[in-house]
Amino acid sequence: MPNTGIDEAVAVLRSGRLVAFPTETVYGLGADASSPRAVAGCFAAKGRPADHPVIVHVAEPAALDEWSSAVPDSARRLVGEFWPGPLTVVVPRADHVLSEVTGGQDTVALRMPDQPVALVLLRDFAGDRGVPSGIVAPSANRFGHVSPTTADAVAEELGEAVDLVLDGGPCAVGLESTIVNCTVDPPEILRPGAVTADQIADVLGASPSTPGSHGETPTATSRPRVPGSLETHYAPRAQVLVVGSAREAMTAVADARASGHRVGVLGLPDDPSGNFSDNLSGNVVDLAVPSDPAGYARCLYARLREADRRNVDVVVALPPAPEGIGVAVADRLARAAGTR
Ligand code: TXA
Ligand code: MG
Repeated sequence: MPNTGIDEAVAVLRSGRLVAFPTETVYGLGADASSPRAVAGCFAAKGRPADHPVIVHVAEPAALDEWSSAVPDSARRLVGEFWPGPLTVVVPRADHVLSEVTGGQDTVALRMPDQPVALVLLRDFAGDRGVPSGIVAPSANRFGHVSPTTADAVAEELGEAVDLVLDGGPCAVGLESTIVNCTVDPPEILRPGAVTADQIADVLGASPSTPGSHGETPTATSRPRVPGSLETHYAPRAQVLVVGSAREAMTAVADARASGHRVGVLGLPDDPSGNFSDNLSGNVVDLAVPSDPAGYARCLYARLREADRRNVDVVVALPPAPEGIGVAVADRLARAAGTR
């Protein structure tokens, strides 16, 4: 693979500036994880609140022991199985980890992405400096917006706020990584993603829990540990309405049009009889996605961006089957709709 732009990207990162780069999930807005100034710049570019923790991206599984003071056995097993890949583990932080990175918590989130450009960048950035090296990378969008899955979408979101954008083409997964809090027993899935609860259970020999099942009640003063707890995340400008069936979708489309809205439909099955398409004809934007959950996930964010570009007011969305990454798609749609 040619390393076009990577030497420059490493130089930009080392000087404390920002590089957007592709991962297999979504594009990240990268900054040197050991520089308070760089991390602050990353938050500022996104418009992200300072107490919201970020993921440290690392070049190899061995980095787990450099960034964590006491790696839980569950984290070791999950990393052994899924790194590089769309899995983030939350583990006890090592002393050197900046509080700007952890949001003042005693844990840190770590991930080794599975994307060739990202891996070369992480390795070259680490070089042979002999110190723990990592790149913090929140998704490369303005806080609360839809994550970018192409270099063009990064430019659209951040414009001049980012110093360099590495283009790795469209992201293969298309949704943010699965986040697992490994500091509790059983480990807890904080955000669903491509690595599923079943896959995690297979590795751990026990089912992971999901948010809330540890009896923690969010309070006004509690830290935003759970992604999305601060506000609606992953939201386009258009209003998103999630429906449970194609029939419900048709009613929702008709209602929205009756109110004078421009409507987009997402994830509706093809209807061989043609009735359905007839009912949808005229001034309805077809935000077509593949029907399999992985294909749906890969295209979802691009279609939500398209909805905004085409001035859609209301997106009527039918989630894919709740299998595999379909669970994560339903989670993001619910967040975009403001119902989670
Ligand atoms: O796929 C991904 O994870 C992408 C790519 C770029 O790697 N990154 C990403 O970052 O989605 P971001 O910042 O948009 O979302 C990271 C989430 C945040 O919602 C944050 O709450 C959570 O990770 N997080 C980070 N550190 C945490 C910690 N110590 N404890 C609990 N949650 C944490
Ligand atoms: Mg994000």
